Amino acid sequence: MTGRVALVTGAARGIGAATVRALVTEGWSVLAVDRATDDPDLPYPMASRADLDRVVSENCSRAGDSGRVQGYVADVRDHAALASAVAEAERRWGGLDAAIACAGVIAGGVPLWQMPTSQQQAVLDIDLGGVITLAAVSIPALLRRPEPRSGRFLAIASSAATRGMPMLATYCAAKAGVAGLIRALGAELGGTGITANAVSPGSTDSPILAESARLYGLPDAQSFAVQQPFGRLLHPDEIAATLLFLAGSASTGITGAVLPVDGGLSL
Ligand SMILES: NC(=O)c1ccc[n+]([C@@H]2O[C@H](COP(=O)([O-])OP(=O)(O)OC[C@H]3O[C@@H](n4cnc5c(N)ncnc54)[C@H](O)[C@@H]3O)[C@@H](O)[C@H]2O)c1
Repeated sequence: MTGRVALVTGAARGIGAATVRALVTEGWSVLAVDRATDDPDLPYPMASRADLDRVVSENCSRAGDSGRVQGYVADVRDHAALASAVAEAERRWGGLDAAIACAGVIAGGVPLWQMPTSQQQAVLDIDLGGVITLAAVSIPALLRRPEPRSGRFLAIASSAATRGMPMLATYCAAKAGVAGLIRALGAELGGTGITANAVSPGSTDSPILAESARLYGLPDAQSFAVQQPFGRLLHPDEIAATLLFLAGSASTGITGAVLPVDGGLSL
């Protein structure tokens, strides 16, 4: 995969940061995109600029300071900012081979009808709208690669895409939307050489899971481990490994798929 170029959103921590690490280790050049500042609509911290800078510097060292990793601050709700990020990846490395939508937020903890409208809107606009926008601005770049193409559009859905999780109604709706989007893109991209797929993680040890625990009144993220048949939380690297496989040359037969990486949570 040397010479391949990826754009990863939500790259400053958690699954996005693990995905940047996995791609860089396999020789990819990566534009690491994150909002990198708190969101006034949400009551828990987003990643910071320092988090994003740390991901970039650690991966620059990993890549031997070869200029293969660059940070980029953009909010996935901002169409123009994401389009500029795609343009930056193409300008810097000559094209784009994979766009990976990892940015996401959670809110809830109360029934839908008690949830502040601003939080409902943030979850829908980031978790679904942000993925649609990334697809809209990145797929033309994937199509600009010469044939035979092997571009990849990848997103993160969730076990919440298929399970009715109380107190997380808009999150479930957004993630089900991501699954529907991926199925449609898989069909739309037929014959182009480009595939669209998603992974559906179970409970994965990251700040969003700590916020989920708070929303459910649980002591910490670890409390979710007992719900997963394999009896532990997933590590972000385990989700990143599947995204790396889907981004790579061994996944040519898969498109429009939403793969559970969930320790059996969906059983
Ligand atoms: N951790 C889990 O248990 C779990 C389970 C299922 C699905 N997911 C999904 O995996 C994805 C990654 O989550 P994570 O576990 O790494 O969470 P995380 O909170 O650690 O990381 C999310 C990242 O997205 C960034 N972000 C948030 N809003 C943004 C915006 N508007 N624009 C750009 N960046 C923004 C944050 O700054 C942060 O760096 C999310 O889509 C989440 O819904 C996570």
